[in-house]
Amino acid sequence: MTEQRTWGGRFEGGMEQLTADYTAGMDRDFWAHDIAGSVAHARMLGKQGIIPADEAGAIVAGLAHVLQDFREGRVTWRPELEDIHTHVEVLLREKIGDAAGRLHTARSRNDQVALLNRMVVREACDIASDSLRALILVLCDLGERHAADPMPGYTHVQRAQPVTLGHHLLAYAEMLARDRERFADCRKRANVLPLGSGALAGAPYPLDREMVAAELGFEGISRNSMDATADRDFVAEFASACAITQVHISRFAEDIVLWASAEYGFVTLPDGFATGSSIMPQKKNADVAELARGRAGRAIGELVGILTTMKGLPMSYDRDLQEDKAYILGASNVVLPTLRIFTAMVPALAFNLERMRQVAGLSFSLATDIADYLVQRGMPFREAHGVVGGLVREAESRHCELNELPFEAYAAASPLFAREVLKITVDSALAARDIPGGTAPRQVRLAAAALRAAVG
Ligand code: ARG
Repeated sequence: MTEQRTWGGRFEGGMEQLTADYTAGMDRDFWAHDIAGSVAHARMLGKQGIIPADEAGAIVAGLAHVLQDFREGRVTWRPELEDIHTHVEVLLREKIGDAAGRLHTARSRNDQVALLNRMVVREACDIASDSLRALILVLCDLGERHAADPMPGYTHVQRAQPVTLGHHLLAYAEMLARDRERFADCRKRANVLPLGSGALAGAPYPLDREMVAAELGFEGISRNSMDATADRDFVAEFASACAITQVHISRFAEDIVLWASAEYGFVTLPDGFATGSSIMPQKKNADVAELARGRAGRAIGELVGILTTMKGLPMSYDRDLQEDKAYILGASNVVLPTLRIFTAMVPALAFNLERMRQVAGLSFSLATDIADYLVQRGMPFREAHGVVGGLVREAESRHCELNELPFEAYAAASPLFAREVLKITVDSALAARDIPGGTAPRQVRLAAAALRAAVG
């Protein structure tokens, strides 16, 4: 095994299999990224005359064959080779012989792995961004469709004021739009080329780092070789964007779980996105939503994990950093499938609009609007609050809603009331909130259009 290792020279004994297994990385699926990085590096070495041009050409051609072998599943993973970087180099040597030994000139696996991780995170940000866009657009469509459909709005899980279903759904779309910005922001900072940093101190060769950056689509090059090889803040940012996204989805999921219960009765789950019970034949459970909610725990765990792994690491590269891949993969594996299934499931939810409309007007949900009515007639809001509070007490004792009280009760409570107060309805309450950000149907339509334009 010794001769296969890229660092075997100073070792006499072989590595214990236990050690090989324990220390192997989790990067076996990232061959395409690693090879792309090596191709760019080899071309640059050749162009700069750091290695002979013909050998650079042989390396690039050999790497194309290695890539083909990976694509066609012809590569066997060997844990003792530690990581994808070593696999690629060993496979290249099998193709082109000793010229392969020149590829690692002016490069360390420390800057190579930083490069690979930045490429992987960059790509994951793009996938997350596209997935978020799809879900946001689904919510914009639904927001528009339900711009005038009332439902109860809640605070403290108590019916508070009517809102529109469109407004409620677009609240999530806004959260997800900010999540999308977070991924874009993360991508921006990840998109800096670390290659050329060597093991930690830079490389004693006239590298053209800008050329490599341009070939690999990086916006710029790192300014400090120690920072570039030691830090993984871009992984923490990625995990953070994933965790926040999953937390947002988790709250949406919780709403869906509640809405699908008989107590709420707001939504009927599509069969294709629900599961049954092995004992209770009548059950239809919102397991997709529950698992999305549950997996927020995993997403948060990935963020805590990468931060904990980095905390207290002395400069510069330490092997602990190999664990970063687990967090990238872990966070992606929670968020991306969740966005995908929500994008499919949410448009298939059957909203019980009649029931939502009916409940929207219950539990004295128009009390604030009645107080506002008094305010419009000159009463200070705090006083109006007290007057309407008295009417709520009266309605409660008579087991009726506010609009079922006789007008005399209003007249006795304040001389400012006229009969038209009984005309305050759920729809009038909704229409009255016609300011930017409000739940009036007109505003909800405007907000949906604005968000759709913003996500492009
Ligand atoms: N396998 C390592 C990782 O993924 C890269 C190699 C780092 N350098 C080293 N001397 N082991 O982080």
